[in-house]
Formats: sequence, structure tokens, C-alpha cells
Amino acid sequence: MAENLYVPETSKREEIYKTIIPQIKSLTQNEPDTIANLANITAVLKQALGFFWIGFYIVKGEELVLGPFQGTLACTRIRKGKGVCGTAWQKACSQLVPDVECFPGHIACSSESRSEIVVPVVRDGQVVAVIDIDSDQVDDFTQTDVIYVEQIAQIVSTFNL
Ligand code: SME
Repeated sequence: MAENLYVPETSKREEIYKTIIPQIKSLTQNEPDTIANLANITAVLKQALGFFWIGFYIVKGEELVLGPFQGTLACTRIRKGKGVCGTAWQKACSQLVPDVECFPGHIACSSESRSEIVVPVVRDGQVVAVIDIDSDQVDDFTQTDVIYVEQIAQIVSTFNL
């Protein structure tokens, strides 16, 4: 249950992921509603990690369409291959962007965004969504974030998307 989310304030990021991933599993495993589950996952990530923007884009036809998120107003639709999200979709590969100003074609939904990771959610070999996390700090992500957000993407891949 969401109200049982407990992350000690002194935890390092890797410890936080190790704490919240089992919580995300138990929070979502008996709930069939995909939007409810995606919404709660963004809330857990925001509460536990505090990044400035955390959310889902869902593949709908030729575009990614904004899904549940926590953060500031964001662009609604992204075409395949465009920006960091569209690149993660096209390549079916996680994107770690240490400095968004150095990523050609980065879509600046907010001037506060400085670094970003985008992880595809893959089901039956197809990207069905992406998880996008933005930080207001340059170089705020490492492969550790990619590893754990990919584990969250694995959970999401079992949803009805
Ligand atoms: N920066 C992303 C767009 C989405 S926002 O960050 C929420 C991109 O380049 O795909």
C-alpha cells in the first residue's frame, strides 16, 4: 500500500531503489488498472527520489503520448526518433543524458531540466512506453539509475499497455 512507503531520509540512491522496487511490485500486483498503477509509480519515485520530473510516455500509433507524471507541465506528444524519449523508443535502448544541452534534438519541456534518463518499457520485443526522469542538476544520473529504472520498466512491461 502507498501509505506504507517508507524510505529513511539518509538512504543513498541505490538503497532507495532497493527499498522501493519491492514496494512498487506489491503496490501494483493486485491492481489491474494501468493508469492507477503508473500514477502511483510516479508518486513513489517522486516521493522517494525527489527528481524534478518523473513520468511515462505511452506509445500510441506513431507517437509517444504523455501519461501519468509528477512535475511541471510537459509536452504532450513526441514522434519516434525525436528528443531523448523518441530516441529511446526508436533504439529500444535506455538513454542516459548527462547534459541535456549536449543532446542534439533534446526537447526542452522545462528550462529547469539539466540531465535526464529515459528507459523503454518493452513487451514482446516492442517498446510500449518509456519512463522519463529529469533532474535539475547536470550529470545527476549514472548506470546505477539505469539498472534500477530498467527493473521498474520490467514491472511496467507486465501491465496492460
Ligand atoms: N526532454 C524529453 C521530453 C520530455 S520532458 O523532459 C518531460 C525529450 O527530449 O524527449
